[in-house]
Amino acid sequence: MIFFVLVSDTCSEDSSKDISGPELIRLVTDKNTPTGKILQGHVMLSGIVEDDEYIIMEVLKSWSDDLKPNVILTTGGTGFSKRDVTPEATKQIIEKEAPGLSLAMLNASLKVTPMAMLSRAVCGIRGDTLIINLPGSLKAVRECLDSIANVIPHAVDLIL
Ligand code: MTE
Repeated sequence: MIFFVLVSDTCSEDSSKDISGPELIRLVTDKNTPTGKILQGHVMLSGIVEDDEYIIMEVLKSWSDDLKPNVILTTGGTGFSKRDVTPEATKQIIEKEAPGLSLAMLNASLKVTPMAMLSRAVCGIRGDTLIINLPGSLKAVRECLDSIANVIPHAVDLIL
């Protein structure tokens, strides 16, 4: 499966300090991790964008329309601060919402921390691509991806 990863600059004001992006790539690709074993992912493209709704929309649109990866994972920008606009950008460009994935992440995350209530992550489909918002912290990335990794291969099969 082909994955693209989009990192919000609230996780990484300085790209040299972006640890969630590289960890997310490892969790998708490294077959020695439980998620990597399931996903067998190839991350062909990753990028860091500022938390600007229009820019995020344009990146998500051009990536899914022109390059058609199986999955785009975003990390960060899902919270309550004024800068957090990833869910709004995602909602505007998806053609179908996939609330079950967001609910599964929330359900699993609430068993770990009540702070999970502060993520407004959205998931959905545009064209051939499944788009999944993840929160920005390293811990949240691990916990959320763990909770949905099992169903991503079947979800991708159904979309194609
Ligand atoms: N989900 C899990 N599984 N684990 C976490 O530690 N942190 C929460 C939440 N979701 C967390 C989590 C916190 S503290 C915030 S503020 C929100 O995700 C939003 O994070 P973001 O703005 O970096 O996207």
